[in-house]
Amino acid sequence: MNQILVIGGTGNLGVPVVKEMMDAGLNPRLFVRSVSKAQKAFAGAIPTLVEGDVQNKEQLAAALQGVNTLYLNLSVAYTNKPDDWSMETEGLALILQASKTAGVSRIVYLSSIIYRINNTMGFKWWVFDKKAAAIASIKASGIPYTIFYPSSFMESIEMPRQGNMIPVLGSSEVKMYYIAGQDYGKIVCRSIVEDFAGNYEYDIQGTEAIQLSEAAKRYAIAYPHAVLKVQTAPLGVMKFFGLFKQDLNFISNIVKALNTYPEPFTSTQTWKRFGKPPTTLELFAANRPDTTA
Ligand SMILES: NC(=O)c1ccc[n+]([C@@H]2O[C@H](COP(=O)([O-])OP(=O)(O)OC[C@H]3O[C@@H](n4cnc5c(N)ncnc54)[C@H](OP(=O)(O)O)[C@@H]3O)[C@@H](O)[C@H]2O)c1
Repeated sequence: MNQILVIGGTGNLGVPVVKEMMDAGLNPRLFVRSVSKAQKAFAGAIPTLVEGDVQNKEQLAAALQGVNTLYLNLSVAYTNKPDDWSMETEGLALILQASKTAGVSRIVYLSSIIYRINNTMGFKWWVFDKKAAAIASIKASGIPYTIFYPSSFMESIEMPRQGNMIPVLGSSEVKMYYIAGQDYGKIVCRSIVEDFAGNYEYDIQGTEAIQLSEAAKRYAIAYPHAVLKVQTAPLGVMKFFGLFKQDLNFISNIVKALNTYPEPFTSTQTWKRFGKPPTTLELFAANRPDTTA
């Protein structure tokens, strides 16, 4: 049996991947900081949960016992400052060290396409430096790896939702190939089952390039549980109204990257291997759960 351990399974993009692993019968084990948060996230079909924190070496080693494949959904927290301990640098170093000791045979890692803007077009951001360093450290670990580089997730359209309002920051003509977490999760599962020896890297993009505010409007129209309003405004205005509580600098860098990067289509090989992702933005929105209550 290929025992999978997921770290970051309760994250925004960990949840849809774990759900696909469960549906595919892959029986993942999750290393979570909060069992109750995980039970809520996976109500109905709860995976095997091991409580712990990556910063606790004993807990991490125990969770990795008997693990063949490690799936990583890590992030640099919005609250992180450049010199803070972060999951994608210090956390990843602890994970790689513990994985070698435990004899893990494959690391599967969620990165992103957007970090490629770094050091181009006058754009330079320490978070993207950390993402590049994370990839380099996985590649240098000696453990076979699969790295995914997705475009923006459709889930990211609804993440900043405030009540019945979806804030869209800034304006730009730049388009992104939005992908549904579910489609990505299915590709992850197939890769885990079908990709054996060697290393793999896959760009992950949906079938349609859509501009950010257009995507939010289409999502709002197709969302069945409430009448959603899309509010486009500069970041400073949103901050003034208290709509973003996170660090202004962090948010403004993400927004600037998303509004600047001319994302090329680079997923031909991924589609040849796994097929075209089937979920349109409308289908995605129509099937979202009712989070209004
Ligand atoms: N948003 C997009 O459209 C997009 C597109 C492409 C790539 N990505 C990438 O996707 C990645 C994941 O994003 P996300 O939104 O899912 O991140 P997230 O919600 O911040 O998830 C991070 C996960 O790490 C866990 N975690 C944090 N510190 C931990 C610790 N010390 N020990 C154990 N677990 C810990 C968190 O647990 P808790 O639940 O306990 O906090 C959570 O499950 C990011 O690297 C992002 O760059 C995002």
